[in-house]
Amino acid sequence: MKKARAIGLFDSGLGGLTVAEEVFRQIPGEEVIYFGDTAHVPYGSKTEQELIGFAHAILGFLVAQGAKYIIFACNTSSSVSLGIMRRRYRVPMIGLVEPGAAAAARVTKNRRIGVIATEATVRSGAYRRAIQAACPGVRVYCQAAPLLVPLVEAGKVATPEAEAALRTYLAPLQAAGIDTLLLGCTHYPFFIPLIKKILGPDIALVDPATATVAAARQDMERRGILENSPSNPSHRFFVSGDAVQFAALAKNFTNRELPLVRQVCLLEA
Ligand code: DGL
Repeated sequence: MKKARAIGLFDSGLGGLTVAEEVFRQIPGEEVIYFGDTAHVPYGSKTEQELIGFAHAILGFLVAQGAKYIIFACNTSSSVSLGIMRRRYRVPMIGLVEPGAAAAARVTKNRRIGVIATEATVRSGAYRRAIQAACPGVRVYCQAAPLLVPLVEAGKVATPEAEAALRTYLAPLQAAGIDTLLLGCTHYPFFIPLIKKILGPDIALVDPATATVAAARQDMERRGILENSPSNPSHRFFVSGDAVQFAALAKNFTNRELPLVRQVCLLEA
């Protein structure tokens, strides 16, 4: 087992890279181990039991690879599996829901918040509960958006197909008069230009990654495990599906050339 010195991040695929980008920005001295479970994407249509099984296998892998801290870079896993994983693993971990909900509660003025997320996240009710706890009296409008993750994983982000899907998903939230939209899936920040085009300038967008990485940083500092000396960390990327395709799409979306992406098989696909 390697010495625990990295931050482990995982998602069903490319979406968690939007959280990894936040880690590179806010805590650049930290080494990242990323796992994209592309053999099982999309997570949004999976059962609770399946999602818990994936999270369990991935956490075991990340800890064995030397993770000292885990960021759930996936809202679906944060909503469904985080509580159970905290009881199974000693490694400290954080999810996106509480920090994201608190950030949206700080932003709204008219107390109408929209959430777009996967079916499993919406079904869990996690965002509704967390936002209402952070901002009593708020109205929360949740919309499942199942077509979006497959579009990202197929590299079809800036397309008429994506725009049409987004217009369908966002119309009821616009009609409800929201002033804040929480992007409750880490794949969705790739659509921000299109979302802004559809919603215009008056609806604020909240990406939970920003508040989550800030909270993770504070938590690591409090625990005395934050990397304080600036270094040039070597990040590691793993996927359960096609590594070449993942690296190509990652470069396209983030403008970042990933170091060698390795394929590992943790569970049967
Ligand atoms: N990006 C993940 C999330 O934040 C998972 C999406 C999916 O695979 O359906 O929920």
